[in-house]
Amino acid sequence: QTDDSNTVIINLKKMNRVRALDRDNMTITVEAGCVLQDLQLYTEKAGFFFPLSLGAEGSCQIGGNLATNAGGISVLRYGNSRDLALGIEAVTASGNVLNELHGLRKNNTGYDLKNLLVGSEGTLGVITAVTLKLFPPESNSEHGFFAVDGVGAAITCLQCLQNHFAGKVSTFELMPNIAMQCLARNSSLRCPIGDHYPWYVWYKIADANPDKPLYEDNLALLKSLIEKGLIINATVSQNETMKQYFKKIRETIVAVQKQEGAVIKLDISVPISAMPKLIEKGHATIENICPGIRPYPFGHVGDGGIHYNLMRPSALSDKEFLDNYKDKLCQAVLDIVDGLGGAFSAEHGIGSQKIQEMKQYKDPVALDLMWRIKHAFDPFNIMNPGKVIPALKKHK
Ligand code: LAC
Ligand code: ZN
Repeated sequence: QTDDSNTVIINLKKMNRVRALDRDNMTITVEAGCVLQDLQLYTEKAGFFFPLSLGAEGSCQIGGNLATNAGGISVLRYGNSRDLALGIEAVTASGNVLNELHGLRKNNTGYDLKNLLVGSEGTLGVITAVTLKLFPPESNSEHGFFAVDGVGAAITCLQCLQNHFAGKVSTFELMPNIAMQCLARNSSLRCPIGDHYPWYVWYKIADANPDKPLYEDNLALLKSLIEKGLIINATVSQNETMKQYFKKIRETIVAVQKQEGAVIKLDISVPISAMPKLIEKGHATIENICPGIRPYPFGHVGDGGIHYNLMRPSALSDKEFLDNYKDKLCQAVLDIVDGLGGAFSAEHGIGSQKIQEMKQYKDPVALDLMWRIKHAFDPFNIMNPGKVIPALKKHK
């Protein structure tokens, strides 16, 4: 959606071929229009694993994932889209094709143009193909679902899991009580361990070796965390159906929010160590501004990201809530995030909606350099104008 009638939208969905799969190099080269889920299935059939995973995987395309540096539920272990891309092909503003489409893990040959294009949201060029890292399949995986009293306990459990299963923790997602209540009211899904606990975590550990099952080890660790008083209640996946059920719950808590009125969405990150402070300060501050507000924080705390969403108090209409409180609430939460050394956009990017925050919170020197980079790539400002950086200053 745009109010600029000159805007052109480019659809790359027909550019969806797999150009090459290099087994020994463990890379795949695909065109930008390839749907993420098709890519996941293709690599799985070939005996590999491509770890990028997010709610929109059935429809989003890999070019867009790279252009926006998409995150998702496996960032903790495998990194953001940026970390998965080795090479890139893009059409520049002058119409040239930039060919950096290589599968090199070592390539120390000057400025990293790939990493400028990744996350540039179309403002520096149009990504047309990428070479991506592949991994061994997560054929041996275990999932757990547990309840804790507070975010601090959840983070301690994360550290215990990381120490115990070094390098094998793929996913660690936090969900609040209100999400389980909302799920029960608006879907047929039910929390597998009862919906009366303050916080929940769904996690996944995995490796490629099916000969060494993780089941017993996972169970033993959960028991020790219960004995230490960190976990209140827990269950583990008995089969594939249960694993899919845990994932479905995490996905559905996003969809059910809008059944209960207006939601203010904040996609933020802080150092993992600051997560408990963020929640404590955040909740107190927003309640003070808007009594009865229902915070709905969920997401990828294993990588420091959280969707700090805010549901309106039941006493207010959507309009009253948004008109009178949205700006104040966003400002207050983002100030806290900034004070904790966090980011006002963790994984959803900037687009046009976060331009004001760019002005307010981004380091001015960084912004100045971004303007200069934009000008070098796109001197006539034809690539997704008005997005990501506040306003194009003329630079000589
Ligand atoms: C998620 C989307 C909202 O994590 O980023 O489900
Ligand atoms: Zn997310």
